[in-house]
Amino acid sequence: MERWDELWTNVHLATLAEPEGVGAMDDGALALTGDRIAWVGSRSELPGPPGELARRVRDGGGGWLTPGFVDSHTHLIFGGNRAREFERRLQGVTYEELAREGGGIRATVRATRAASTDDLVQGALGRARELLSHGVTTVEVKSGYGLDVETELRMLRAARRLQEETPLSVHATFLGAHALPDGYQGRREEYLELVVAETLPRAHEEGLVDSVDAFCESIAFTGEECARVFDAAVELCLPVRLHADQLSDGRGAELAARYGALSADHLEHTSEAGVRAMARAGVVAGLLPGAFYFLREEKTPPVELFRREGVPMMVATDLNPGSSPLRSPLLAMNMACTLFGLTPEEALAGVTRNGARALGLQDRIGTLEAGRDADLALWDVDDPAELAYWIGGNPCRAVVKGGRPAWSREGPTPGPPPDAVP
Ligand code: NIG
Ligand code: FE
Repeated sequence: MERWDELWTNVHLATLAEPEGVGAMDDGALALTGDRIAWVGSRSELPGPPGELARRVRDGGGGWLTPGFVDSHTHLIFGGNRAREFERRLQGVTYEELAREGGGIRATVRATRAASTDDLVQGALGRARELLSHGVTTVEVKSGYGLDVETELRMLRAARRLQEETPLSVHATFLGAHALPDGYQGRREEYLELVVAETLPRAHEEGLVDSVDAFCESIAFTGEECARVFDAAVELCLPVRLHADQLSDGRGAELAARYGALSADHLEHTSEAGVRAMARAGVVAGLLPGAFYFLREEKTPPVELFRREGVPMMVATDLNPGSSPLRSPLLAMNMACTLFGLTPEEALAGVTRNGARALGLQDRIGTLEAGRDADLALWDVDDPAELAYWIGGNPCRAVVKGGRPAWSREGPTPGPPPDAVP
């Protein structure tokens, strides 16, 4: 038998490989060859002594090994921040009011347009590395703070640079229909025409788009307007997803289902009919408790209905400067439990198996199974439920991406030296 490159022992495994539960395996072993997982099982089933089976034997120190986390909904590239708006919201001004007076997303659009691409990359790199240090190996990043051709392209190029300059895989989502930009009041049609006829095709041509998203909400775009963006995506054979039913029931879940979206996200106001439509179409429910918490919303997403109808639930940070400045997937898991009533097992599935599915990557990442990408996170916990239990702190000890060490608590993050970053 060919020797494996690496064999992890003295670890417990949460494989997430079954459709339910975390697939816990006490005293497991996991082998890697190249960038793939070669073998997963319990140590007692190993076909020989570890030292003979692999070139390198790694001691997991009795920790838990999980799939690398998938943060499947973020807006981590942006200029500026909105701490001042946070203060105003605490004084009683609502998120919608801020949006209507030209703040909110449009405030971040102005700051993002004013930033150089290098500045955008530098700001995002810090946040991306922080996610990596919390076990994330794949991150989704959206455009949507440019809203003109040039700045949308610059954001998406910055997303590709994040992939080059960190060990992370970056899935780039085009969100040209995030808000109606300044200067287009009363000219909604024209803005949508720009998005579907120019911005999206150009971004796609440059190879910058992995999926297409839109914000279906009273302060953003109607269902019909989002459908127009989706039609353009379908034309280019790009998968779609949707910011749906966050602040009101705009039948976003139904729209996402109609287009066979990868996921519909937020969903606080989704109706039972919406949930059933998602179930029939196999749409993942994207739960974003950071936005619910930070906007101090009161209506929670219909988690019990998702369970009953068999809709898979993903959990993500939604990391963005306005509604969810949340920089830890572990905190997102904790909030998904405390605020939305997920079990710690569901929360863990939400940032692994179901996060992968929300990006259409379920055949490659999100579980520990032979043949999958060797994306791993090692945790100093006695029970995987602790990943959703601690509030703050970071029990991550090491992260492996594609078979290579990507982050370790003991050492610096591998990657190009800082002076290689322009
Ligand atoms: O996912 N809901 C729309 N978009 C973001 C918020 C963006 C912002 O406020 O800057 C979200 O919550
Ligand atoms: Fe979002």
